[in-house]
Amino acid sequence: MDHEQFSALAHTSHPIKAPLDDLSVRRLLGRAVARPDARVLDLGCGTAEWLLRALTAHPDVLAEGVDVSETALATARERAADLGVGDRLALHRTPAADFAPPHRFDTVLSVGSSHAFGGLLPTLAAARAHLAPGGSVLVGDGFWQRPPTPEGVAILGDFDDLATTVDRVVADGWTPVDGHVSSRQELDAYEWACWGTLAAWGLDRPGTPGAADALARSTARLGEWLHGYRDTWGFVTLVLRRTSE
Ligand SMILES: C[S@@+](CC[C@H](N)C(=O)[O-])C[C@H]1O[C@@H](n2cnc3c(N)ncnc32)[C@H](O)[C@@H]1O
Repeated sequence: MDHEQFSALAHTSHPIKAPLDDLSVRRLLGRAVARPDARVLDLGCGTAEWLLRALTAHPDVLAEGVDVSETALATARERAADLGVGDRLALHRTPAADFAPPHRFDTVLSVGSSHAFGGLLPTLAAARAHLAPGGSVLVGDGFWQRPPTPEGVAILGDFDDLATTVDRVVADGWTPVDGHVSSRQELDAYEWACWGTLAAWGLDRPGTPGAADALARSTARLGEWLHGYRDTWGFVTLVLRRTSE
């Protein structure tokens, strides 16, 4: 099994690949998708779970997702067909920075994918290039709740604290119109869902290919989380509009 297959397996019980629960996702989407016939884009969409929820909530929304993972996009395609929204979802397998659609979008999402652009502000610059006048961006990224350990930085990369993160976004010409800081419960539930699912998969298949690897990976990732960043890392999701167009 390659990294993408392990990632797909780890996220089977938490299809949103970020530490937000279903209520938080629904509330933020409700704020970001302001028009019932909105065109919605997700940069780094993964299995397109955010888009699938927008599509099932609004029968006239049209959505496009961009990701480099064929495994994730195949899952998105299958889920969209099962939910009966496949005709309103276009999926593009390409680096998000290279995506050049012929039209703009009312809502641009990018949650947990800022590494695709080299950070939060470059992600917002990319989102802005796709945004229709008056549109909203929904962006989710990490921040440090407390000074990180070197191990935490090595695992997750570097971030600012929450206030500095928001200050930099505002200084970049954006106004937050809503936001959500993931709770301790959301942060923990996400990690337990990922590494617990992977561990259970391995335990249920003793002696089969991949089982020992799944167990070893789940134990290693659990240790990285508990020793490396559980007490320092947080996640913020912002709904943003341009302060002036
Ligand atoms: C943590 S997942 C988040 C997925 C989704 N936004 C969600 O919240 O469920 C990050 C995603 O970014 C994608 N990704 C990484 N580099 C990328 C790039 N250069 N262009 C597009 N997608 C990229 C990965 O394949 C992965 O699906």
